[in-house]
Amino acid sequence: MPLRNSSLITLQNFSKSFVENLFSEALLLKQKYKNNQCDLPKYSQISHQPIAALLFFEASTRTRFSFEIACIRAGIKPIVLDGVLGTSLEKGESVLDTILNIQAMNPDLFIIRCGENLNLLELQQQIKSPIINAGWGTFGHPTQALLDACTLFEEWKTLENKKILFVGDVKHSRVVASHIQLAQILGAQIGFCAPSDFLSSPVTQNNQNDIEIFEKLEKALPWADAVVALRLQKERHDSSQIFILEDYIESYCLNQQKLNLLSSNSFILHPGPVNYGIEIDNTNNHLHTDSRCKIFNQVENSVFIRQILVERSIKGVL
Ligand code: CP
Repeated sequence: MPLRNSSLITLQNFSKSFVENLFSEALLLKQKYKNNQCDLPKYSQISHQPIAALLFFEASTRTRFSFEIACIRAGIKPIVLDGVLGTSLEKGESVLDTILNIQAMNPDLFIIRCGENLNLLELQQQIKSPIINAGWGTFGHPTQALLDACTLFEEWKTLENKKILFVGDVKHSRVVASHIQLAQILGAQIGFCAPSDFLSSPVTQNNQNDIEIFEKLEKALPWADAVVALRLQKERHDSSQIFILEDYIESYCLNQQKLNLLSSNSFILHPGPVNYGIEIDNTNNHLHTDSRCKIFNQVENSVFIRQILVERSIKGVL
């Protein structure tokens, strides 16, 4: 098992067997939960109830709530910093100093969502408690990639040679950055379909040879075993990012007509939050009545994956 100080900042050092074992454990936990058979895990190496500091310096619904639920189900007490309001960040304290002060209170685990103004890899060297990356700038969102892949693994039992298409704002997506790492581990093939302005990033440039690029959805969708629609991340666009929203919607919004090009055996995912009508259409609720749509399954599975991750991290075996 690779040594990572039981932190999870990137997926870089994970092996295929390690990830598949994680998926199997999470899906078994899901089954036990549904059958009302879950026991609270024991943390024999800690004499107190473990505490996880959830520090969300950027907005979140799914990640924050699912980590909170995961911690509670795992017998770990979550304490939450949710945005700037009401904290000493309002008085000008830095994000780093905030974390170092909370570390002085000795929580057993940090779960951090932050921008690129914080370097989680450097922070890991500075503090003794493990860190789980809950979304870091555009650098990565490893637990989201894991839960997306687990949702597909639940259907396919392997991601080997499966074709996963990402549509839309690839450039600003930390989820894509983590999926590129995960696809290399699991043997999946990645495709992108996006306007050229939304394609080029250091991540895509470094992995150009491994990625299938499509200009049009009409070619991309028949290729895909799964399509992941990406949120248009307006908050990360700079002034050079000029595009006409109507044209973008016309070309890249997954509407019913376009989704007819996707095989009936393929799946539709979105990491959320969804801008309905921009990256994905839900007129007449057709999306959520489409049996290929796995968006709420992703959210459901997020709790089980994250429960396994927080338990392992606290036990020092992540
Ligand atoms: N997918 C995701 O990270 O959603 P939230 O921003 O709501 O946590």
